[in-house]
Amino acid sequence: MRVLMVTAELWPLAKVGGLADMVGSLAGALGRIGHDVRSAIPRYRDLVERVPPGLRETGTREVSFVVRHGRVSARVVRVEGEDLPSPVDLVAHDTFDRPGIYLDPATRRPYEDNGLRWAIFCRAVHAAVGSDGWVPDVVHAHDHQTALVPALLRWAKLPGRLARRPATVFTIHNLGYQGIEPPSWAELSGLPRGLEYAAGPIEFHGQVNLMKMGIVASDRLTTVSPRYAEEIRASGEFGAGLEGVLAGRADRLSGILNGIDGSVWDPGSDPHLPFRYGPESLAGKGKVAAALRRELGLDDSRPRAPLVGMVTRLASQKGIDILLPVLDRILDDGVQMVILGSGDERYESALREAARRRPGRMAFRTGHEEELAHRIEGGADMFLMPSRYEPCGLNQMYSLRYGAVPLVRAVGGLADTVVDLDEDPERANGFVFRAYEPAELLKTVRRAVRIWRDRGLWRALVLRGMAADFSWERSAGRYEEVYREALADRDAEAVAAPRAS
Ligand code: ADP
Ligand code: GLC
Repeated sequence: MRVLMVTAELWPLAKVGGLADMVGSLAGALGRIGHDVRSAIPRYRDLVERVPPGLRETGTREVSFVVRHGRVSARVVRVEGEDLPSPVDLVAHDTFDRPGIYLDPATRRPYEDNGLRWAIFCRAVHAAVGSDGWVPDVVHAHDHQTALVPALLRWAKLPGRLARRPATVFTIHNLGYQGIEPPSWAELSGLPRGLEYAAGPIEFHGQVNLMKMGIVASDRLTTVSPRYAEEIRASGEFGAGLEGVLAGRADRLSGILNGIDGSVWDPGSDPHLPFRYGPESLAGKGKVAAALRRELGLDDSRPRAPLVGMVTRLASQKGIDILLPVLDRILDDGVQMVILGSGDERYESALREAARRRPGRMAFRTGHEEELAHRIEGGADMFLMPSRYEPCGLNQMYSLRYGAVPLVRAVGGLADTVVDLDEDPERANGFVFRAYEPAELLKTVRRAVRIWRDRGLWRALVLRGMAADFSWERSAGRYEEVYREALADRDAEAVAAPRAS
């Protein structure tokens, strides 16, 4: 099948969080099982200033479309190279020629005109579909930024060169970010007038909701773990207001666990680790930990303390609120912590202050530090993810692979991948707690530290985690099935209601 991925982030070109890793590695896995995949992302300023080495531009197309009363032009630049799983179209427009992806780094706030930026990106993708002779069977859009593409394919006039509309699949990565825009956004969208009526396909409490639009418009929906697929249609806590819409389309929604890219995340070959290791010899892990402690200024005297790592966006999703009240008690217990994260200023300053109070015990680093993220996975004994909600989570899977035992809250993909030692000793690979409470988090860290002191038991836990297989192979096959279902839905609809030409 020909599959066009439409996304705001794509590893290794543009990354804020797991979205980039997921789309990049899914594209690679689909290519390996014989599909013809291309991707489209905006050409952010970073990609103008430093196109990664080894990439070449292999073509440019101009597209234009009417926004309000004026014509807008964009350039679609094709890049290819060995570091990319498949060709990528970069959509170039002035509104993307700025620092950052979603936020203005100067103010740390979302760009005011994000609604316009995503509309332009999606309209350019829609206008360019098939213009180079490559017509996708399936358009796979990711999260609210790209939801307008399936909506245009369903409701707007099809570009004349397409005999039929591609099938559409929409993946929900995070319902915490829905893209809420004023009703006047509809004028930017290129959609037929009138879709913004109350309770209609794009309206939400008097505003336009891009996520809802993607959910209603697409042939098939997926989200990134089976547990999150259940959570979001069952309760407002996880559905974030869209639970009713999702329940209405439950028969079209599949929860497919993300895989991880074993060529990027492998302690046996990771170029970012000063020493390599694997299940057959864990000695390298101890050396990585010692080097990491030196790098971060953490005390390395004996007897060593257990080292707990976190690598995370600092957003309310990630559970920093239940960590901060017990952080000092965790450190008082003799635990060391390293946190790499950036995002909300209030979390950054609280963590920076905690690290300042406890030098040698706690290290905090901010900014996006891809290589340090790998070293933390490599050096940490435990990896903490106390998320309020977690659609999938990739770090707990990286941690399992790197022998950093995950301590997680039982939500979404964390519940689907981590098995608690007390609940199922035979299959256990980590520690899990339920209530979103600081006391529960503290109890879980203490429980893990007790087991950590029992070297035999700990080693068994580490090795079980390292043996788990989270490769994309199985999940890519599931996406293939969903693509076939989407094509069948599209065909059934074409029979029921032929599109006016
Ligand atoms: P989310 O997508 O919600 O942020 P995931 O666990 O799916 O959560 O993915 C997070 C990804 O982002 C991981 O690859 C993680 O290593 C990376 N990451 C998060 N914050 C940073 C950071 N400050 N520096 C480097 N990598 C980071
Ligand atoms: C989102 C989610 C995260 C998931 C990632 C990739 O950012 O927060 O849980 O792993 O998307 O699907």
